Amino acid sequence: MTVDRTGLACHEVPGAFDTGAAAYDRLVGANPGYHEHLRLSARRMRLPGGGRGLRLLDAGCGTGASTAALLAAAPHAEIVAFDASTEMLAQARRKSWPPTVHFVHSRAEELAGSGISGPFDGIFAAYLIRNLADPDGQLRALRALLKPGGTFAAHEYSVRDSLAARLVWHAVCWSIIIPAGRVATGDATLYRHLWRSVLAFDGAARFRQRLAGAGFTAVHSETMTGWQRGVVHTFLATNPGEPA
Ligand SMILES: C[S@@+](CC[C@H](N)C(=O)[O-])C[C@H]1O[C@@H](n2cnc3c(N)ncnc32)[C@H](O)[C@@H]1O
Repeated sequence: MTVDRTGLACHEVPGAFDTGAAAYDRLVGANPGYHEHLRLSARRMRLPGGGRGLRLLDAGCGTGASTAALLAAAPHAEIVAFDASTEMLAQARRKSWPPTVHFVHSRAEELAGSGISGPFDGIFAAYLIRNLADPDGQLRALRALLKPGGTFAAHEYSVRDSLAARLVWHAVCWSIIIPAGRVATGDATLYRHLWRSVLAFDGAARFRQRLAGAGFTAVHSETMTGWQRGVVHTFLATNPGEPA
């Protein structure tokens, strides 16, 4: 697998996560704010009634960190969580979940074939969209799975709009993420992909435009606290229920 200026080829990303799966929770657990920020993004979806009667989708759930955040924001909801990495999903399934949480092995591009169908009241995509070959097409496809008025939230790194954010990102990657990833897994490919793919990803303004272009309304974003201020964002959008 070759990491070029934009990272790995998109079809190689789930395989790279297979390699990194066993160490994933340990590494993100050492990242101050990782889980807290996922929970903040899930709360920003403002899901009513603790999620009672709601059906939610966690797109690219990985080892279940984002699923746990969604569950904390909406403990009464039914949650379908999918990921294309067998090993990441195996880590997620090993954890203890209420019977309302269901994990499905699927690529984002093949949801219907994997038996995942809407409508959903909310969709959470944490660190997924940056890894997709056709983000516009996938955003439209995810919107089509939402009920009219349903909420989409992408929790994502975006540093293009800010020199300060890019400098922080280079510093964090080369002082911590890449060396720690290499030590934990013996292979820095996934972490070099993370570094490059974040640099290549949309700035926040461009990603908000992308969401609007996919037919979402009420598009806005909010950032985090700590070193992730201006680096990690929650992008929020609503499905107005009209064709894209
Ligand atoms: C950085 S992890 C994030 C996992 C989880 N959402 C979290 O917040 O910890 C990104 C996940 O996206 C998954 N992924 C990447 N491309 C995908 C695709 N095309 N379809 C489904 N999952 C994909 C990877 O396998 C990986 O588990």
